[in-house]
Amino acid sequence: MNSNVYGVILAGGIGTRMGNVEKPKQYLELRGKPVIVYTIEKFAVCPDFERIIVLCPRQWVRHTEDLTARYLPDVRNIDVIPGGSTRNETIMNSIDHIEARYGLDEETIIVTHDAVRPFVTGRIIEENIRYARETGACDTVIPATDTIVASEDHVTISQIPDRRKMYQGQTPQSFRAKKLREEYRALTEEERSVLTDACKILAVRHIPVRLVEGEVFNIKLTYPYDLRVAESILGGQDEC
Ligand code: CTP
Repeated sequence: MNSNVYGVILAGGIGTRMGNVEKPKQYLELRGKPVIVYTIEKFAVCPDFERIIVLCPRQWVRHTEDLTARYLPDVRNIDVIPGGSTRNETIMNSIDHIEARYGLDEETIIVTHDAVRPFVTGRIIEENIRYARETGACDTVIPATDTIVASEDHVTISQIPDRRKMYQGQTPQSFRAKKLREEYRALTEEERSVLTDACKILAVRHIPVRLVEGEVFNIKLTYPYDLRVAESILGGQDEC
């Protein structure tokens, strides 16, 4: 039976903030294994996924297929396809691919996750699937630790929102795929260009997005410093 739930690993970026490294950050190695492999492994052990769609830069598709064949030889439900020009376009590519290959209906769920968040847990993935089924959309977050300071002009403070109501967004973010694409297509070009976050596609229309509790260690590898943090998280996991 088709479970109608797809894992979508977003690896379409090139990691400019990681600095002058020889390859996109999702292919850098932690203890001899590429970051993206850790991430795909977390999805591969989840029994709910019909398929796992990995989206990466077009010139990295072959390499990514080689990695999955080498590290995950027993996992046969992975498709590697090119991402898009923005993160949201990458998500749209995944939905178009699912529709063309496997069919799409109102209940088809995508669990979208940054390839560069290798420490996601089974619990977080399962709760994403549950709340996406129940509510139609959900976002993984942790309570904000630092006070958030907003500045319109980047010089002075315009607002300091109540920290108790502030969260930091992580991933996965999960959606009824058809509805997400419909709302995305309804946006103007300009609206699309300022929406860096997929949940915002729905939030700007006041469509409910359920919160899922993330983990402090579910970090995104963005800067070189984050690689050192990742090494120490892996060290901590060894001790457990
Ligand atoms: N991503 C994607 N498609 C894009 C851009 C980003 O799938 N067109 C993915 C990245 O590969 C990453 C995730 O979205 O796994 C989070 O984005 P970010 O950390 O911003 O990644 P990059 O765009 O690669 O990094 P940077 O902004 O430093 O260039």
